[in-house]
Amino acid sequence: RRQLTLALLKPDLCANPNTISKIISRITATNQHNNFEIIRQREILWRQQDAEAFYAEHRGRFFFERLCGYMTSGPFMALVLARQDAIKEWRALIGPTHPWRARINAPNTLRSLYGLTDTRNSFHGSDSDETAKREIEFFFPELDVDAWRRQE
Ligand code: CMP
Repeated sequence: RRQLTLALLKPDLCANPNTISKIISRITATNQHNNFEIIRQREILWRQQDAEAFYAEHRGRFFFERLCGYMTSGPFMALVLARQDAIKEWRALIGPTHPWRARINAPNTLRSLYGLTDTRNSFHGSDSDETAKREIEFFFPELDVDAWRRQE
């Protein structure tokens, strides 16, 4: 059974169109650990209040202002990805939150290759079915996640 997840390719990546096409090629490459189907793709430009709404659960954390500043620094890409175990497999492909940890423990993951700092970590992935639905419908309100799951 296929599953949906929300992926973000954050603003530092979108400064370079070549980087984005390389990453998209890797995401959709037909092998065991990639092979994601891109169901939706949209370029997003956030205002401060959009970042604060999406990351509401992090309000009050020491990195919250930094995170919102980063995510409003330029356009980024929101993708809806589908495959078997999409949530787990996408998080495996991007690697740990902190790029330096990724370089040590998970070489060749996307954050180990592209991530800059703990905040500017270049990628996001939903962490559960419930958050995937919320995050997908945040960016793609026209996509009915429950209906997609029923027909899958
Ligand atoms: P993301 O997976 O999009 O979810 C929350 C974001 O907050 C995370 O990626 C990072 O960009 C940022 N973040 C999480 N933990 C830290 C941290 N310890 N220090 C700085 N930024 C963080």
